[in-house]
Amino acid sequence: MPKQIIRPARTISGSLEVPGDKSISHRYAMLAALAEGVSEISHFSAAADCRSTLDCLSRLGAKVEIKDSRVRVTGAGLAGLRKSRRSLDAGNSGTTMRLLAGILSGQEFSSTIDGDASLRRRPMRRVMDPLTKMGARIEAREGGYAPLKITGARLAPIEYTLPVPSAQVKSAVLLAGLFADGVTSVIEPVRTRDHTELALAEFGARIDREGRAVRVQGRPRLAARKLEVPGDLSSAVFFLAAALVLPESNIVIHNVGLNPTRSAVLDVLGSMGAAISLVSVRSAHGELVGDIAVRHELLRGGILEGDAIAQLIDELPAIAALGPYTEQGIEIRNAAELRVKESDRIAALAENLRRMGAKVEERPDGLRVEGRSAGRLHGAEIEPRGDHRMAMAFAVAALGAEGDTLIRDAECAAVSYPDFYATLERLVER
Ligand code: S3P
Repeated sequence: MPKQIIRPARTISGSLEVPGDKSISHRYAMLAALAEGVSEISHFSAAADCRSTLDCLSRLGAKVEIKDSRVRVTGAGLAGLRKSRRSLDAGNSGTTMRLLAGILSGQEFSSTIDGDASLRRRPMRRVMDPLTKMGARIEAREGGYAPLKITGARLAPIEYTLPVPSAQVKSAVLLAGLFADGVTSVIEPVRTRDHTELALAEFGARIDREGRAVRVQGRPRLAARKLEVPGDLSSAVFFLAAALVLPESNIVIHNVGLNPTRSAVLDVLGSMGAAISLVSVRSAHGELVGDIAVRHELLRGGILEGDAIAQLIDELPAIAALGPYTEQGIEIRNAAELRVKESDRIAALAENLRRMGAKVEERPDGLRVEGRSAGRLHGAEIEPRGDHRMAMAFAVAALGAEGDTLIRDAECAAVSYPDFYATLERLVER
């Protein structure tokens, strides 16, 4: 599927489930590999990114069996990983590379971990700095880019204040902390997703939070678990957005992760006028899960900025793509991190929104997208720059445009959501 045509639609309705949460799937798989015994993980993410993690873990000696969305991981205990004969391949996945860097830092062997062209452009210094402070030796390409050669060591615990709000960096340090003698602390000035903390507690590590500090006790015994991954809210958001683009839409998405450190997007859309309700909310392995129902309403739009950005970071492409469908437009500030994601998302959003006729002002740390008064979008050729969230955001924007849209290199959506276009096609009416 090198390209995908998205035809305009009249409305979208029905119910669906989305693949298991990508962030949680990575963490459950990694901890299962470090635990003693057999873990069974159901509704494991179908994302190519999570396959990269499983592939790396099996190269490191964990036994991984995959059947549909069920994954069985036989862990060999905290000290049980083995040196991989070949270089580890994180593919397109920043989470795989950064979190595994934490684990590899605590091993008695050295490893090389690499990724695709996009991942080789993403900053790794942010994990190299704290992991080096703990005692690992990490060599990278000039400037701190993959491939990384990580020589593990007996690690010393540190107290580390995150210079950028990043759950991946926090997690890399906490995972390295499992191999340190004593208590490792991470201070996060801005709260980020806490899946690592919740998963560590599930697998039996001693972890606690006090204000902005998270602490993990080194050298725990992790026990295998039977776990179910909730649906990925960051994937569900594209269907919420589609319902907000198309009049008379009504969608229900079942069993979606609603962790409060991830669900800011629901508050933001709600504050702009979206009719969103949560049903059957429950807790599973420390994570909140529930069904999300959304009905079409015309959105007011508004400004997104400040600390909220860190909790919305993966949803910003979908929100920006809604800009032309809002009354006042959407402005995103303080989001320079978007420039170092799978693509430079600020530039990619600005370029492709303009191709569809939107009025956009690009800024170093965000963008302003004009609302409905700037005119209706028209179909265009979209260049997602190999970035799954760009491809999906523009598929959604295209539903309300005049004329067909062609998404180049559309299969990049499989990085997080292999069945995305088929599911969208099943739910829209023309
Ligand atoms: C993730 C954290 C975020 C997010 C990424 C997944 C995670 O990245 O953008 O998609 O699973 O920890 P940063 O930690 O770089 O903000």
